[in-house]
Amino acid sequence: MPSATLIFPAVNQLAADYWRAAQQRGERTVAAASVAADVSLFNGTAVVSLPTIYERDFPAAFLALIAEHSIARIHCSVASVYAFLRQFCIDQRLTIELLGDSPIHQQMSQHQRLMARARQLRPLVIACADVSKVLPELEIAAVFRQSALIYGESNDEKLAAMMGIVASAPAGDVVELGSLMGRTAFVLLYLSRRYCLGPLLTVDPWLPANAVHRDSPEAIRSLVDDWDYDALAEAFFVNLAPFVGSDHAHLRMPSAQAFPVYAEGCPILSQDARAVPYCRRIAILHIDANHDYDAVRNDCDLWLRRLLPGAWLILDDYVWSHGDGPLRVGNELIEEYAERIERAFVCGKALFMKFRGDANREE
Ligand SMILES: C[S@@+](CC[C@H](N)C(=O)[O-])C[C@H]1O[C@@H](n2cnc3c(N)ncnc32)[C@H](O)[C@@H]1O
Repeated sequence: MPSATLIFPAVNQLAADYWRAAQQRGERTVAAASVAADVSLFNGTAVVSLPTIYERDFPAAFLALIAEHSIARIHCSVASVYAFLRQFCIDQRLTIELLGDSPIHQQMSQHQRLMARARQLRPLVIACADVSKVLPELEIAAVFRQSALIYGESNDEKLAAMMGIVASAPAGDVVELGSLMGRTAFVLLYLSRRYCLGPLLTVDPWLPANAVHRDSPEAIRSLVDDWDYDALAEAFFVNLAPFVGSDHAHLRMPSAQAFPVYAEGCPILSQDARAVPYCRRIAILHIDANHDYDAVRNDCDLWLRRLLPGAWLILDDYVWSHGDGPLRVGNELIEEYAERIERAFVCGKALFMKFRGDANREE
């Protein structure tokens, strides 16, 4: 019989996550618990009952289970049980591997890695800010921590640059075209509140017809079929629910359709059904919707008209290996607006541009 991994105690999401990943890689597992387990976490697979580690018959029951299933490894996500088993294995001279570090040490080292990352990237935040009002390390870490919980396609360097540029943005609306599951939407919402900029508008139709990148290779084009678009929309609202307020609304429609709704002053309602007080002039515009050239060009042609003096444009994937839409449009903008660009740089593959004066007012 091939060796197996014992998942004990199989009582929480970490245990279930390990079980699921083990299933996928074909690893044999045995789940065990000392309390009634929620078998739905393990897709209905039976969970073996073991006495608690404090009961007299635990050693015999545990050793019998180990022998019966050829257990070679233990996954343990509960700190007290982990500490007990570490000593138990030594005392019993068991050659079983206790996987990973203790849950407490894992938390401590995860936190230390997070703080080290925040420390490492704060100079980048400062460089992008070009002013003194920069977030402290603790808040940079908090933004990384929360945003990492949300699936997204923006990396830490781009988020760091976002944390920097908000410091020099004027007060006004913050607009994001293309939100996926809400990673950058969360960051923009947090920052617009922190710097008292103004409400956030996110726009994403969550539809395959819009998401498909026709200018990209087939492998990228076919990715659109992998999503369940209603689940994607639901996930966005789940991810943003803890931060919901009357300073954010979402328009579930393509950016070209959303533009007149925004620009013509139509009421736009928050999740709690209040009209969000947009000033209809944009302080930060994050363009991260469809990356085909025509789509990016159209987004810029429409939405740049609403930029405030001093506003920032973030053009995602200016550096992109699957197509050159954002690169071509970005280069065109640099030429077209040469006189009006106060600062421009590339960070985390995105192009950041700050516009000066009031030259971008809609004619
Ligand atoms: C790269 S993802 C956005 C990632 C997100 N900003 C993040 O960093 O987490 C691109 C998103 O653009 C959306 N999209 C595609 N066409 C769009 C359009 N015309 N208007 C608005 N969103 C669009 C897609 O549905 C997809 O969710």
